[in-house]
Amino acid sequence: MPTWLDQKRRGVIITIDGPAGTGKSTVARLLARHLGLEFLDTGAMYRAAALLAIEQGIAPPDGPALARAVGRADLHFDFAEDPPRMKVGDRDVSVRIRDLDIGEIVSVVASQEPLRRVLVEMQRAIARDHPCLVSEGRDQGSVVFPEAAVRFYLDADVTERARRRAGQLEAAGIEVDHDRVVREIAQRDEMDSARADGPLLRPPGAIEIDSSRRSAEEVVEELARIVRERLGQAGLGR
Ligand code: DC
Repeated sequence: MPTWLDQKRRGVIITIDGPAGTGKSTVARLLARHLGLEFLDTGAMYRAAALLAIEQGIAPPDGPALARAVGRADLHFDFAEDPPRMKVGDRDVSVRIRDLDIGEIVSVVASQEPLRRVLVEMQRAIARDHPCLVSEGRDQGSVVFPEAAVRFYLDADVTERARRRAGQLEAAGIEVDHDRVVREIAQRDEMDSARADGPLLRPPGAIEIDSSRRSAEEVVEELARIVRERLGQAGLGR
């Protein structure tokens, strides 16, 4: 079996897909750090597209206009930072794209096929420049990197996901109606799963992990152990 260092020389992609509120981003970031890989947050790219829609007055369902705007915008990550920052030209939008107005339209933006085509191509281009990646999103193991070395699907109970989401909102000083958060999460799952292009699904062959009632660190431990088993031990977690 090739060693981990051999794997890294050739490039190694690990994908983590799953719905919102599973702790996926935190887990992906920590796993990347643990394995000495880079971290690609593809949700940030859809959020940046939603920001362009707001700033340029583009209707969220206008796929061709979104694709054009993204094509013109010099959307990229600054990989010198950990986690990498989402940039539009010189502007760092990493914080702005977490605002509520973005969350309200991003599902509709992300369901537009012309936009997805552009962003999927960008994600593959990023992987050519950064071949050792933990890539996180909804379609990374199914559409973007079906040949990835290890593909995970992270899930959790809807009530648990709503609890995490409510915690994030409360931490941001926003008053929360818990039943409403559960409804919104269920609605968003439905939208992300039902769309025709790049829907949220469990890719065949992906390893399913349930993160309910477990800390991000515990989940990372498990994922790292699985990667180690699959890809060889030597040099892992340097
Ligand atoms: O993971 P997140 O909340 O930052 O994702 C923002 C939105 O983008 C969410 O509606 C799902 C969508 N998304 C997607 O459709 N495909 C991806 N690869 C990543 C995110």
